[in-house]
Amino acid sequence: MRKKTVAANWKMNEDYQQGIVLFSEVVAMVKEEVTGDQQIIICPPFINLHILAELSKQCSAISIGGQNANQSESGAFTGEISAKMIKSTGAEHVILGHSERRLYFNETNELISKKIDVALKHQLKPIYCIGETKKEREANQQFDVLKKQLDEGIFHLGQEQFLSSIIAYEPVWAIGTGVTATAAQAQEIHHFIRNQITDRYNQETSDNTTILYGGSCNTKNAGELFSQVDIDGGLIGGESLKPRDFVDIVKTFNL
Ligand code: PGA
Repeated sequence: MRKKTVAANWKMNEDYQQGIVLFSEVVAMVKEEVTGDQQIIICPPFINLHILAELSKQCSAISIGGQNANQSESGAFTGEISAKMIKSTGAEHVILGHSERRLYFNETNELISKKIDVALKHQLKPIYCIGETKKEREANQQFDVLKKQLDEGIFHLGQEQFLSSIIAYEPVWAIGTGVTATAAQAQEIHHFIRNQITDRYNQETSDNTTILYGGSCNTKNAGELFSQVDIDGGLIGGESLKPRDFVDIVKTFNL
């Protein structure tokens, strides 16, 4: 079912101890201040998955996710982490296809589609990231790019598996830049994504898909973004490292 969701992408920040402190601060504030039925997904570096999954048992609104997983089940892939390993830590989600993975690690839609399959096989729910670059937007290619990312990356799934996934629209030009998509720009794209889901599956599937916005989301712009009809919450990078600001973004839903 479609849920009001705020996910934190810590990226390659915080060491083991710092991660525990940051998480504990978030949990304390969420428990005291946040009411309602929203879900919060914290995606730390791999080293903190297990301890945070244990600590998250104190707070039913919070679950844990990885930031990437390998496309193979297991084997001689030095330095890589499998979906099964992530699942075994107690994590429930995994971010796949983040634009930083696409850019710095040459991940293609085809590769990411394999990662999605392996994640789902191990009951990890994918958070599939899509988004156009600045150059693509300037050439008015955003709709073609997003359609291709959906078609090649995730639309091979059957309806039930698709419904286990979350889509995150993250315009590459907005990530870590301080430039946010306007609420109207984001809503236009989210509406487009929802229509694509209706075309591929059906209205019910589309209505039940959680679609998040990501890219320089902060306490000032979250309210307007999250109030758009097709925006179900956010994937938060930089601001998720500041516990007060992150919880204030979560609380936006209660305003
Ligand atoms: P940002 O990152 O909030 O720092 O722009 C979002 C993301 O990359 O998921």
